[in-house]
Amino acid sequence: MLDVVILAAGKGTRMNSNLPKVLHSIAGKPMLHHVLDTVDHLSAGDLQKLVVVGHGAEQVEASISGRNCQCVTQAQQLGTGHAVQQVLPQLRDDALVLILYADVPLITPESLTGLLECAGPDTMGLLTVNLLNPTGYGRILRNDAGDVIAIVEEKDASAEQKQIGEVNTGIMAVPAKKLIQWLPELSNDNAQGEYYLTDIIAKARQAGTAIQVFQPASAEEVEGVNNRRQQAKLERIYQQAQADALLDRGVYLADPSRFDCRGELIAGRDVEIDINVVIEGKVELGDKVKIGPNCVISNSVIAANSEIKANSILEDAVVAEGCVIGPYARLRPGTVLKNGAKVGNFVETKKAVIGEGSKVNHLSYIGDCEMGARVNVGAGTITCNYDGVNKFTTTIGDDVFVGSNSALVAPVTLGDTSTVGAGSVVTRDVAADELTVARARQRSITGWLRPVKQPK
Ligand code: UD1
Ligand code: CA
Repeated sequence: MLDVVILAAGKGTRMNSNLPKVLHSIAGKPMLHHVLDTVDHLSAGDLQKLVVVGHGAEQVEASISGRNCQCVTQAQQLGTGHAVQQVLPQLRDDALVLILYADVPLITPESLTGLLECAGPDTMGLLTVNLLNPTGYGRILRNDAGDVIAIVEEKDASAEQKQIGEVNTGIMAVPAKKLIQWLPELSNDNAQGEYYLTDIIAKARQAGTAIQVFQPASAEEVEGVNNRRQQAKLERIYQQAQADALLDRGVYLADPSRFDCRGELIAGRDVEIDINVVIEGKVELGDKVKIGPNCVISNSVIAANSEIKANSILEDAVVAEGCVIGPYARLRPGTVLKNGAKVGNFVETKKAVIGEGSKVNHLSYIGDCEMGARVNVGAGTITCNYDGVNKFTTTIGDDVFVGSNSALVAPVTLGDTSTVGAGSVVTRDVAADELTVARARQRSITGWLRPVKQPK
């Protein structure tokens, strides 16, 4: 039985922001959500999640509604011990309690599992780390036998204690029964006038409860975010880790330090990603997909052998095999490209099906459109899908040729193998196989003279 307590009440003064600290993001996801996701990866059967909220409580609660956790308010931030005191009524007597920090977002399920395995009914687990520069952290005090006897906070530490490199990460696993006993006994008689959670270590020692230390695989996992610099640092650590995982799976990244994944990327074999590509939400790339520089791809699926050229933006798009997109294309939600379709430079699409082998190569807007196979849409063609109030569909059959700079005023249908002359404004349906020209007829005037300048 596991009760997870996540401390998320802090203001985060040093972020210099109106957003509560725990809602600041790493890789596009609030830090608190990172911690909740990690908890969801723990294989504990009977698990309860308690989040201690305070600053910006309403906003924090709203962001995690639907995440199956209970919020407990800490009206005044009187210290980490005080924060955990707030959840005492919610703790289950026989549970092991895992205490986490919402501003320590990179902790891994592996480290937490290791820590939990250290703890038992009469043993508490403490996650510590050895740092070259331990300034600011609580130091782990051990006796000559090497047993942990207490934690002393930086502000309360003697010069000698400040030399200790082993520090408290804040993360610990404690039997609920012990917390229920120890927390009400805490005092705030210390340099910060706070109720320190760390004081329970000395209490455990007095009570003869064993303290088992576990250390994470890397110190970066337990770094906290108190300011923008630390946030930026953790962002890079997180991105580098994602890039490394992709490289290990065989993805070519032109420069791992100029790749950002703010979500999940599933990539096939021999995928190539050039510099400054941003992935958002869930993106799937098939085998041999190539992404050019400066592309932003959100919640899209791109099948094998397709190429996205430089500076293209895709959002909620589905691209079949062997398509070519961009440079400078914008595929908005609901765009579907069938096999071998092409969407070229300065083309915007929205809720549009571009049929197999069809081409929209230059300077077009194609919205609310169903297009068949092998269609050629000339440069500058626009689907006029909006009358200011309602949206209408343009339906284009197979093998249609639309001349350049045409306006297709929806609702309108172009039959199979029909042709539209350049510069047409098409307001009525075009039958199959017909040529439609809907523009002013050309007039040429012979003998016409240009005006000449009058001499002064
Ligand atoms: C704490 C530890 C310190 C450890 C460090 C690791 C204590 C007394 N000290 O110090 O040993 O090395 O973390 O990063 O525990 N919070 C609340 N309510 C409060 C106070 C804090 O919810 O009343 C939350 C904060 O939002 C934050 C976390 O608890 O997420 C840690 O609080 P913070 O004040 O940053 O503790 P540190 O001084 O860093
Ligand atoms: Ca802190």
